Amino acid sequence: MYTRTFGLREKPFTISPNPRFLFLSRHHLEALEHLRYGIQERMGFVVVTGEVGTGKTTLLRSLLESISSETDTAFVFNTRITAKQLLKQILTDLGLDAAGLEKDEMVEALNEFLLRQLGASRNTVVVIDEAQNLGAEVLEELRLLSNLETSQAKLLQIVLVGQPELNALLNLPKLRQLRQRITVMYHLQPLSLEETGEYIRHRLRVAGSERDLFTPEAVQGIHYYARGFPRLVNILCDRALLAAYADDKTQVDRPLVDEVQREMEVPFTETAGATSTPDPSAPPGLPVAAAGGNGTGPLLALPEDLQTRLRKLDGIEDDVKEIRATLKNLENLLNFSLWVDRNV
Ligand SMILES: Nc1ncnc2c1ncn2[C@@H]1O[C@H](COP(=O)(O)OP(=O)(O)O)[C@@H](O)[C@H]1O
Ligand SMILES: [Mg+2]
Repeated sequence: MYTRTFGLREKPFTISPNPRFLFLSRHHLEALEHLRYGIQERMGFVVVTGEVGTGKTTLLRSLLESISSETDTAFVFNTRITAKQLLKQILTDLGLDAAGLEKDEMVEALNEFLLRQLGASRNTVVVIDEAQNLGAEVLEELRLLSNLETSQAKLLQIVLVGQPELNALLNLPKLRQLRQRITVMYHLQPLSLEETGEYIRHRLRVAGSERDLFTPEAVQGIHYYARGFPRLVNILCDRALLAAYADDKTQVDRPLVDEVQREMEVPFTETAGATSTPDPSAPPGLPVAAAGGNGTGPLLALPEDLQTRLRKLDGIEDDVKEIRATLKNLENLLNFSLWVDRNV
């Protein structure tokens, strides 16, 4: 493996949300402060949104690790569930017995628990990751749970974290009452170029590296292709280190980053007749200009058998998208079981 060659104790760019590698960019720090503030000040609903791979789950894990000892937490990560399943999970996480209880009974048990918490000066938080998948009916149930309050504070804090679709969901007219209760909101932005450099150096340092393994130009390329999304930065950096190791290089430079990015797109570019050199000004994530590079024209003039093969490629592309989605689900499951291993 490349770790030993580069003086690393472990792989620096794995894609599990490991709080040990936490790097607080300005936006990450602000998001964390919003979360902490909403919980500590017992504000009721707190919402954090961000695109896939911006670091939401990583932040949640670090929030849960650092939450005060006077706070009890329920963590919901599987959000394709009914209101009854949600209640059951919340009760179980809070250490309450939910076996055989109907929905109303579970709400009652939770309310009694919250009042006991109030008596013991304890706070209670329900954290929901991937909240964009919750049904409107489930969200409405959450609103009802948040009704319990004293004159100054909510007895239950509810943290909703999700992809930007969560905002659209919360804007539905039927969720108007819930929307009015959201007191703290934050949208997590990707890393800037400078932050991407700091992020890469930070992860390398945590993994034990004492020197810059990426040239400034390589960092620029990674930021350009990954658009500042930490998950993509990790994938590119990992592949680039592997490629540098394979090429006997001591550092990752820009041409290597370009090569790695190109290789990751091979199935969709080469067969479509692309040249092997990408256009550095091309928007990241897009295949290199197809068939000669002047738009859609040449593709239409391709011979019949090539057109058939291109149609097949379209089909394969859809399959790959589906496989990626399945892998993502598996990754979530794995992350969760790792989390359980560490915390339970
Ligand atoms: N602030 C951060 N510090 C360290 N690593 C991060 C940070 N944000 C994201 N990552 C890394 O990026 C990847 C995606 O982060 P994740 O929290 O799963 O994103 P999201 O939940 O928004 O899809 C993870 O591998 C994680 O290790
Ligand atoms: Mg996540």
